[in-house]
Amino acid sequence: MNAIEQALTFLKNGKLVAIPTETVYGLGADARNPTALAQIYHIKGRPMTNPLIVHIPSIEAIHDWAIEIPENALKVAHAFWPGPLTLILKRHPSVLDLVTGAQETIALRIPNHPLTLQLLAEFNGGIAAPSANRYGRLSPTTAEHVRAELGDSVDYILDGGPCGVGIESTILDLSQDFPAVLRPGHISVDALETILKTDLHTKHHSKIIVPGSSESHYAPHKPLYLLEKDVLWETALHLTSKKKSFNLLSFEQKPKEMLLNINISPNQWITEPCDPDRYAEKLYADLHDLDEEKVSCILVQCPPNTVQWEAVRDRLQRAATALKQPLF
Ligand code: TXA
Ligand code: MG
Repeated sequence: MNAIEQALTFLKNGKLVAIPTETVYGLGADARNPTALAQIYHIKGRPMTNPLIVHIPSIEAIHDWAIEIPENALKVAHAFWPGPLTLILKRHPSVLDLVTGAQETIALRIPNHPLTLQLLAEFNGGIAAPSANRYGRLSPTTAEHVRAELGDSVDYILDGGPCGVGIESTILDLSQDFPAVLRPGHISVDALETILKTDLHTKHHSKIIVPGSSESHYAPHKPLYLLEKDVLWETALHLTSKKKSFNLLSFEQKPKEMLLNINISPNQWITEPCDPDRYAEKLYADLHDLDEEKVSCILVQCPPNTVQWEAVRDRLQRAATALKQPLF
């Protein structure tokens, strides 16, 4: 049996299969099998009120899962699927409450990864899959991340290599009168507005409950402090002088204006590209690497406050530990 056939057998038998997507790895189960769905919540430690995204094989399959599908849904689906966009639509009556968290809506997407597209075509159903991490933790972008996080509790991991986009899909709510973005991602608000020919509402106007948008999410085990450049270097200097072990994620090497004889010595120091797509692709893998037992914290330089960086900033802000008082 090849890898796809094995994954297919597990899915058909109600088992859990980790699937590669272009965004992050998903913890997949047959979206029509209540026992398998319950197992997803159990393994993730996720509240049953937090609904799942159903991954479907084709645009036509929307009709198996949703009703009253607006013209806008088909427009964006044709423009961006397969791709990192999830649509919230009115649920079809046949959809299980375990998928939707008993809400009247459902989340759907066609992921853009060759292995998972082939798996979906052969499965010919829907695969419900949240990100394959425990609740509130960093999303996995490699098969190794999934194995390290979930171990034997996942029945099979379909290894599709590292994820190209690196952060979760953009979520667009089309179930209400006005389209709204509930989670920013690689598909930008601008790109959606161009196709929809209308302004999008932000999530604050939406009545929908998105438990995944609770403040603390996507977090490493160690405290992560998101700091503006000047504070970042001051803090790094301070921790070094106190001989405290820390890790650092910044855009640049030591700034020129700093005296050469001043020493910053993080345990690990990763410098990120100044391009938001390349930054997103590496982000979770880098945070996984920096989340080491031996350090006291992770210092991260704030990305620019511009729309291009919105999705990355959103993930970093959720990963960050709130600073109730100055670090020193
Ligand atoms: O890129 C992604 O979207 C990845 C890959 C695996 O597809 N999946 C992912 O799933 O990020 P998860 O479960 O970690 O995040 C799904 C988000 C959650 O915030 C959930 O609350 C929201 O989608 N969601 C699911 N169904 C919804 C619904 N009916 N209405 C509103 N939000 C919904
Ligand atoms: Mg998640």
